[in-house]
Amino acid sequence: MSAPNIETIVSLSKRRGFVYRASDIYGGLGSSWDYGPLGVELANNIKKAWWNWVVYERDDIEGVDSSIILNRNVWKYSGHETTFSDPLVDCRECKARLRQDKLDTDAEGKFICSNCGSTNLTDPRPFNLMFRTTIGAVSADDDPAALAYLRPETAQGIFVNFKNVLDTSRRKLPFGIAQIGKAFRNEVTPGNFIFRTREFEQMEIEYFVKPDEAASAHQHWIDGFHGWINSIGISDVNLKDYEQTKEELAHYSERTVDILYRFFPERGDEEKQFDELMGIANRTDYDLRVHSKKPEDAEGKRINPDSTEDLSYFDSATNERFYPYIIEPSIGVNRTLLAVMMDAYTEKTNEKGETRVILKLRPEMAPIKAAVLPLAKNKPEIVEMAKRLKKDLQPSMRAVYDDTGGIGKLYARQDEIGTPFCVTVDHESLEDNAVTVRNRDTWEQERVSVDQLKEYLVGKLAT
Ligand code: GAP
Repeated sequence: MSAPNIETIVSLSKRRGFVYRASDIYGGLGSSWDYGPLGVELANNIKKAWWNWVVYERDDIEGVDSSIILNRNVWKYSGHETTFSDPLVDCRECKARLRQDKLDTDAEGKFICSNCGSTNLTDPRPFNLMFRTTIGAVSADDDPAALAYLRPETAQGIFVNFKNVLDTSRRKLPFGIAQIGKAFRNEVTPGNFIFRTREFEQMEIEYFVKPDEAASAHQHWIDGFHGWINSIGISDVNLKDYEQTKEELAHYSERTVDILYRFFPERGDEEKQFDELMGIANRTDYDLRVHSKKPEDAEGKRINPDSTEDLSYFDSATNERFYPYIIEPSIGVNRTLLAVMMDAYTEKTNEKGETRVILKLRPEMAPIKAAVLPLAKNKPEIVEMAKRLKKDLQPSMRAVYDDTGGIGKLYARQDEIGTPFCVTVDHESLEDNAVTVRNRDTWEQERVSVDQLKEYLVGKLAT
């Protein structure tokens, strides 16, 4: 089972502290969301899992953390200043502002307003999605010399560091550079909770290869990411690949495959249930060429007179110099978090006929790994033992102590936030130095000696 719709996750998130509406006490801010105590743990676990898999478990990837605000020339030569836009239309009837490429058409091919159903829309005009800002204390708001952008992708910060990383790490092709960080887009139609927001986080790999190895490296990463996405708890039944058409490809891409997740299971049309979780593009040698000082256009003019470097690669084995091709797997943290929560969402009926929510997160993803609960909070010895156990577990795993309700309520709360194990200290624990460990998914309980508890939990969490 997985969540029946995003709304279910929105209300669970608010109820339990995964995600809150940003600036809520002032009425919120369109499509901005904050991670609460559990959300930040889950997001960190996702980022940790990705970084471990990409940077530590492979031998061919280095990490970087580049600036959010870069020299404006980065966005000029990347093509973002001229092409990073959406086709904007206004509905003349209801005044809604919409992305034309996301609208349905009627039998005559006219675009239909998704808000009121009218086809009375303006012609499309390009709307650049980059957030603008100005640099320097004395700059006027419209001073072009002070104009800068918040990065709309983390990728460019990698390309402009290609030579730095190559020179300092002494890597040979193929190798990659990975980065996790915030990106900003002034989306025309954000929405669907954290699915499309104006501020979000990306986890991007730019993998540099010889041109003739690009196609096979591309497939390697498509297959690899299916495996990684499964490993964090997302099942194949809710995933699908989508090959972008020639018309859909970004200006730099030769081939892009999106991995889609079933974010909208409530939709009748199965095709429409899926939307993009991530994209894996073959960006060719476009990026390293456009940021290099040497390449020339057909008339012999430098395509980039502002760059001070040549980002080509010299292959000492073949004595050839060329611009590497780039394979780019790019995945959003927010969409991954939403997919992980949707896939883990389960309902179970207890013996009293009450429906309980269980978030069946993989242990690696769970914000809290173990909750230590005293059966009687009015008995100081039990409370003291439970608090001590929590402290003992804490260096090995995220553990919490909770005595704010009856045991049934405490179990239900931990099930709902995905805590794999509850450890209950009862009257007998004081006699036999053992506790009851309850499994979130099976609700089965096992008596475990306190001396063995940490080892027992660490072992179970690793499986
Ligand atoms: N560097 C390539 C790039 O940025 P993209 O397909 O535009 O490609 C990559 O973005 C991923 O970033 C998407 O698959 C999605 O997971 C995430 N993403 C993009 N825009 C987003 C938004 N407005 N809100 C949340 N996540 C977004």
